[in-house]
Amino acid sequence: MEELRQKYLDAIAGAGDEAGLEELRIAALGKKGEISLRMRELGKMTPEERQVMGPGLNALKDEINSALAAKKAALADAALNERLRAEWLDVTLPGRPRPEGSIHPVSQVTEEVTAIFADMGFAVAEGPQIESDWFNFDALNIPPEHPARQEHDTFFMSRADGCDRPPHVLRTHTSPVQIRAMQAQGAPIRVIAPGRVYRCDYDQTHTPMFHQVEGLAIDRDISMANLKWVLEEFCRAFFEVEGVELRFRASHFPFTEPSAEVDIRCSWEGGTLKIGEGNDWMEILGSGMVHPNVLKAGGIDPDEWQGFAFGMGIDRLAMLKYGIPDLRAFFDSDLRWLRHYGFSALDMPTLHGGLSR
Ligand code: DAH
Repeated sequence: MEELRQKYLDAIAGAGDEAGLEELRIAALGKKGEISLRMRELGKMTPEERQVMGPGLNALKDEINSALAAKKAALADAALNERLRAEWLDVTLPGRPRPEGSIHPVSQVTEEVTAIFADMGFAVAEGPQIESDWFNFDALNIPPEHPARQEHDTFFMSRADGCDRPPHVLRTHTSPVQIRAMQAQGAPIRVIAPGRVYRCDYDQTHTPMFHQVEGLAIDRDISMANLKWVLEEFCRAFFEVEGVELRFRASHFPFTEPSAEVDIRCSWEGGTLKIGEGNDWMEILGSGMVHPNVLKAGGIDPDEWQGFAFGMGIDRLAMLKYGIPDLRAFFDSDLRWLRHYGFSALDMPTLHGGLSR
């Protein structure tokens, strides 16, 4: 009995964790444990033997049980102390500011443009970036053999084998949203549609993905004069220059008639661009009166309704306003560039608070 006692007390003292302790408990006191087996043998003993062995085995069982409990508590204490030591925290240290993100110029300018047009009563409309050939071209009065299709450097989606419908495209402009908005809302309507567009082109001022904002206003008596006013108001607010001057130049788009490209007065003196002064003109957008065929494609009766549309490049607006020379850098995800040209997340552009401060 003394041998058993020493063996288990030593083993318990040396146990490294709770699992080890449990193994020892089973080995000594479990159903087939060494001490349990001895206790079962008591029945075969003579009454005299039993009188000695009975209390001795019971005492041994109690001693082992308390040794197990004490060791378990000690192990738990040690584990807690180790956690307290490892997870120690000096709450008197000064806080370390987290690295701060910033708002990308494209997001900033999209917000600015949206705030300005919202103030003039334009709601925001959206459409898919993977667009059917019909919405991207036909519905905008660009039939299959029209030369404008070639000018768009279109990305085509692949077609299932044997499919003879024209392939879907990555939309080459935001103009298809005009059709979707007309179909969804009917007339009268006043929307802008900012979003991503795609063309297979790459140099300092072109990237295969870029951003446009489309505008559309349709009512019974909307004229070219309304278009001029809206665009002049927009440019004054956007460039934050009182004396902006626009030049409407006759042009051609299949989806508008008449069509005009709009240039803004600027100067390039000393290599820096200044808006609203000087003797240079820079093209900033395309526009016109919505073609009757486009109204029809949108489900609107051209004998009853008329309106204007315009489209401009958001990235280009950002480059002009914030003096960013290379468009490709917009999409490089270079943190140094983003920190330099980015905007604080808390400075939401509003007309009353200032668009860009
Ligand atoms: N969709 C034209 C483009 O991507 C831009 C444009 C021109 C949109 C005239 C219009 C418009 O709504 O009236 O080049």
